[in-house]
Amino acid sequence: MNRYLNNKSLVIAGAVVALLSFSQCTPKQSATVSSAPNTTPQADQSKGLKDYFKDDFLMGVAVSSRSIRTDSALILKEFNSVTAENDMKVGVIHPAEDRWNWKNADDIVAFAERHHIKIRGHNLLWHKQGADWMFTGPDGKPASKELLLKRLHDHIFTVLSRYKGKMYVWDVVNEAIEDGPDTTMMYRESSPWWKAFKSPEFIEAAFRYAHEADPTAKLYYNEFNSERPDKREKIFKLLKKLKADKVPIDGVGFQAHWTVGRPSADQIRKALDEVISLGLEVQFTELDITVHTKPVEVISGKAPVDPGFTPEAEAKQIDKYKMVFDIFRQYKKHIKAVTFWNVSDRGSWLDSRGGGSAGDPIPSPAVFIKAYPLLFDVNNQRKKAYWAVVNK
Ligand code: XIL
Repeated sequence: MNRYLNNKSLVIAGAVVALLSFSQCTPKQSATVSSAPNTTPQADQSKGLKDYFKDDFLMGVAVSSRSIRTDSALILKEFNSVTAENDMKVGVIHPAEDRWNWKNADDIVAFAERHHIKIRGHNLLWHKQGADWMFTGPDGKPASKELLLKRLHDHIFTVLSRYKGKMYVWDVVNEAIEDGPDTTMMYRESSPWWKAFKSPEFIEAAFRYAHEADPTAKLYYNEFNSERPDKREKIFKLLKKLKADKVPIDGVGFQAHWTVGRPSADQIRKALDEVISLGLEVQFTELDITVHTKPVEVISGKAPVDPGFTPEAEAKQIDKYKMVFDIFRQYKKHIKAVTFWNVSDRGSWLDSRGGGSAGDPIPSPAVFIKAYPLLFDVNNQRKKAYWAVVNK
């Protein structure tokens, strides 16, 4: 065919392609692009992610008490594990010493049980979305270590007793390692927990209390940017210490808030090898791959421009998803579950962070740029990346 094309028609064809790519750059168009029928001849429409990976690991998704209603069809078709995105976090479920918000968490547990879906508990100790009241004593002064440990113990026992036997995993401690790449500081010393203890004692205590409260749940340390070499080494040190101190830890959660630019395959493998060498199991607990390598810049005085889900971004994302799932399959013996953070590109927690990933500076004032980080598009339809992942 091509040899019949003369120069003039080539120029016209080029202009059409350029026009098409330009129009696809606007966020409005991107919905249309990603909602095109993403089917391939080999696709079996009757199966969901949980079926494609049934011999490998569980497939999970972060949910809210709202999304289990609005997105239940997709959740039930694709997933066999859920995590509460926010509803079990300490400050959300236990906002005051004598106040508990059980409703949303209970609804998620009931939904999962009704549909025979497994539930990950998230989380029991974090420097964010925590309970500020825990850190102040009855006299208005900073709480003593003893009082803090008692409150941590009581919190963990109350939550784990209520859901005893219902959670197959708990993220016991979340993000206790310093994220800054330019410091030798090992622990996150800005955390109120560190400030109160000045030692990792609270980390060990949380695991011991959780094990006592529900010996059937697997207990995890959960962290982000775990593949970056400097942070990987710090995490490895902490894990070795926990093992040496006979702390009841079963596994490590790699949050996997990634971008089309990072991490590399080699970095993921190295991080996995280290964790596995300690006899720990693994889950990818919060997977998303934003199409932006960093938050979209705010040009002062002008409205930020959302580049949308461009064909270039789509291609890069497909490659990255394929690469990471190839690794997941290779390590399936050690990987117990892969959980996506949010259901579809219709709403990702990254959208309100300028489309950047965890650890990236959050633009201020807040900028809304869509991150398009998941396997389902803004219309909850399967993206091409979905088929790239399930078709080995
Ligand atoms: C995020 C939620 O998705 C947001 O809705 C909330 O505003 C902030 O927390 N690491 C974690 C998750 O362990 O709990 C975080 O979830 C994302 C980063």
